[in-house]
Amino acid sequence: MGLRTLSIVLFAGVLNLASATVVPTIALNDGNKIPILALGTYSGKGDKMRQTVNWAVEAGYRHIDTASLYQNEADIGKGIAEVINKGLVKREDLFITTKLWNDKHRRDQVVPALKESLSRLGLQYVDLYLIHSPESENADGTPANIDYLDTWKGMEEAKQLGLAKSIGVSNFDTEQVKRIVKNSQTPPAVNQIEVHAANTREQLVSDMQNLGIAVMAYSPLGFLVNRGQASVPPPQLDDPTLTKIAQKYGKSTTQVVLRYLIDRGMIPIPKSTNQDRLQQNIDLFNFSLTPEEVATINKFNVNKSVFE
Ligand SMILES: NC(=O)c1ccc[n+]([C@@H]2O[C@H](COP(=O)([O-])OP(=O)(O)OC[C@H]3O[C@@H](n4cnc5c(N)ncnc54)[C@H](OP(=O)(O)O)[C@@H]3O)[C@@H](O)[C@H]2O)c1
Ligand SMILES: *[C@@H]1O[C@H](CO)[C@@H](O)[C@H](O)[C@H]1NC(C)=O
Ligand SMILES: *[C@@H]1O[C@H](CO)[C@@H](O)[C@H](O)[C@H]1NC(C)=O
Repeated sequence: MGLRTLSIVLFAGVLNLASATVVPTIALNDGNKIPILALGTYSGKGDKMRQTVNWAVEAGYRHIDTASLYQNEADIGKGIAEVINKGLVKREDLFITTKLWNDKHRRDQVVPALKESLSRLGLQYVDLYLIHSPESENADGTPANIDYLDTWKGMEEAKQLGLAKSIGVSNFDTEQVKRIVKNSQTPPAVNQIEVHAANTREQLVSDMQNLGIAVMAYSPLGFLVNRGQASVPPPQLDDPTLTKIAQKYGKSTTQVVLRYLIDRGMIPIPKSTNQDRLQQNIDLFNFSLTPEEVATINKFNVNKSVFE
């Protein structure tokens, strides 16, 4: 290759680095690496969702969070095939998380349910498979009485088969997680739970961190975004305390609350199917909050879930 060609190639490489953010990874307790920011996808569907995967990967997202419940695995799968075919990334550069729904909790239902998700996603494996919730249901939605320890045995089988590189849980409390740890060969690698400024979950988060279990924080924008509720607690988008911190770093209040979760050692998973907003939501890696600013944001806590 001539010097001229080489310098063009190098220049193109620099341009690529300048346009896409590189998201850091951390090690899970099973040795696998996980990017510390994921694209949330709940309620994103159809061609919009396929397009969103393209925008997200171009912006630097490598981790995508979905679930069989969201009914968008096939759309996300189309987007994944596109970004790989375009040569933007290789499969091994991506980290794909999906979840087992409550109506497939019997041990012998887990691997078949994962195979169905894989087929919709067009993948040979997912990077992370989560039990969506400790509650089990029958096919008709009525409560079932399946012990999540049995479900976990099915999850371990999925990992042994190589269909999921890592396995974990979602919406589990400390006692439930400890019960798995105590009675199983494989501890959960992740617990995905709701955490944001109005619902800081400090005890649960520190319990998970002490157990070596990574926390994915869902609904990370909390009540900064409109969730159709009549009365909501602070902080909201124009909160003066958040605005002051945001101005200090030349960031937005939404970027501050996402960085807050990273500075507490969590993996936020903001959802956006809007190209501009998903770019803003990944622009978190050239600033960080002081411990005092983290403590200030913790003071917003009122233990309020966005789903109440
Ligand atoms: N494990 C579980 O049980 C569970 C439960 C809930 C959620 N989750 C996961 O966590 C993800 C995130 O949670 P979530 O969707 O509830 O809430 P979220 O990510 O906190 O907020 C999403 C909402 O905020 C808007 N938004 C995104 N970025 C914005 C910005 N920079 N400025 C203003 N508005 C913005 C989005 O609209 P636009 O798309 O129009 O930007 C959307 O309406 C889900 O998508 C899902 O993957 C998991
Ligand atoms: C952080 O990086 C983004 C682009 O990735 C840039 O627009 C922004 O000005 C940078 N902010 C700081 C505080 O350096
Ligand atoms: C939130 O819940 C925690 C743990 O249950 C409790 O210690 C704390 O006082 C509660 N905070 C508020 C504002 O209700």
